Amino acid sequence: MSKREKIIIPADEINKQKEIINRIKQRNDFDIQRSGRNKLAMIVTYGCQQNENDSERLRGMLRDMGYHFTEDKEEADLILYNTCCVRENAELKVFGNIGALKHLKTRKPHLLIGICGCMMQQEHIVKQIKKKYKHVDMVFGTHTLYRFPEVLEKAMNETYTVIDILNTDGYIVEDIPIHREGSVKAWVSIMYGCNNFCSYCIVPYVRGRERSRNPKDIIDEITQLVSEGYKEITLLGQNVNSYGKDLNEEIDFADLLKMVNDVSGIKRIRFMTSHPKDISDKLIKAMSECENVCEQLHLPFQAGSNKVLDMMNRKYTKEKYLEIISKVKAAIPGVALTSDVIVGFPGETNEDFEETLDVIRQVEFDSLFTFIYSPRKGTPAEKMEDVLSKEEKQANFQKLLDIQNEISLKKNQQYMGRIVEVLVEGYSKNNPEVLTGRTRTGKIVNFVGNEKMIGTLINVRINEVQTWSLAGQVVEEDL
Ligand code: SAH
Ligand code: SF4
Ligand code: F3S
Repeated sequence: MSKREKIIIPADEINKQKEIINRIKQRNDFDIQRSGRNKLAMIVTYGCQQNENDSERLRGMLRDMGYHFTEDKEEADLILYNTCCVRENAELKVFGNIGALKHLKTRKPHLLIGICGCMMQQEHIVKQIKKKYKHVDMVFGTHTLYRFPEVLEKAMNETYTVIDILNTDGYIVEDIPIHREGSVKAWVSIMYGCNNFCSYCIVPYVRGRERSRNPKDIIDEITQLVSEGYKEITLLGQNVNSYGKDLNEEIDFADLLKMVNDVSGIKRIRFMTSHPKDISDKLIKAMSECENVCEQLHLPFQAGSNKVLDMMNRKYTKEKYLEIISKVKAAIPGVALTSDVIVGFPGETNEDFEETLDVIRQVEFDSLFTFIYSPRKGTPAEKMEDVLSKEEKQANFQKLLDIQNEISLKKNQQYMGRIVEVLVEGYSKNNPEVLTGRTRTGKIVNFVGNEKMIGTLINVRINEVQTWSLAGQVVEEDL
């Protein structure tokens, strides 16, 4: 692969945005003094961890502008939707929510409404918003996230919809302020974009080409996070296995994993997502040797039929996938495996679908993310023809869920009576009396404990097993 000149946004462009952040802060401070009430922002995030990580950047910029945060749109001064377009239902939800804000905007004319993220990188969507959703004040895309302060300042001064979309392969932006979701686990993007163009997928069109951050920037960020007390780091990218291919220095994902493993004080490392075509023996070896890399792998296979895999442009076969899984299982005892599966891809027959079930039965994944195929505008699969009806696809989808639920429960039953290391994340949302955390293999564990345990690693003996979670008791010596 030829090395592209990597475009890094120059520091003075970022400084310009920081100056605007300060100007907005002065303006907000003035308003707060006058009104005696805080300025409140609300961010709603759809889609994958990449979007969650982007929202943390938006939150960082907003915090520096003097905003506090709310989850109640009635009291918000600013509402931002960070959108996803990977499937149609994600887009429909956004349109529904934006439409519903029209009345709120009429009642509270000072309210500012913004939409950003992947959905905005599609021309037909932006056109639709301009035409039908005139109460929206700001629209910006994935490549212009760092210019949000500039967009917001304009929107504060003007009455028209401020639009900032860039159609580019993308670039790297370092040093945007960040306000993270929690204090125990953190996401760190190691690369952006995707070059794979799976025939059903919109991501390469809205996130640009693969570009890797410099290893030094990544390690500096992680070192800083660990010094702040973060215990677990998840390395993010659409296809982390191709990390480094566009860099001038000789480095691949396995090398990076080893460097992260050596960061002093780091307890747990995870990464997502991996593409089967790029998983190397070197990476499997690195995973098994690095003591802080968790025994967990998310490896989407999408479909079991070689015909469908070929139509999807996935560049591996069912046999190759199963071979990788055997190697991973052999090298990493007790590894938890998860995957993404698409049901009802155009051209998929019931016989093809049986191949998907065959993979699921052979591998025995701990859990699956399952999707019914959704045609995406501008992708090659959009033009391909269906063999199965909607009802047949739905029936196959249900069959797959039923089989997987049985397998997930069976996998969890293997934990019964075992002592596992849990990184405690906080109180359970469903039951505030109970603490919750995860095993190294990513299993949710609920248990009774005390507040001091939050953010620490403790041992729990599992005494209750369900399909989606485990429960247990803290082992005596940790009490
Ligand atoms: N880069 C990651 C994840 C991409 S999106 C990867 O390659 O695995 C997450 C998942 O959404 C995909 O793995 C796929 O299973 C699903 N997906 C993507 N496009 C889709 C579509 N058009 N219809 C249904 N599911 C889709
Ligand atoms: Fe989409 Fe395929 Fe890229 Fe994943 S690897 S983001 S599924 S194109
Ligand atoms: Fe969705 Fe964009 Fe992620 S389309 S899945 S939010 S990269």
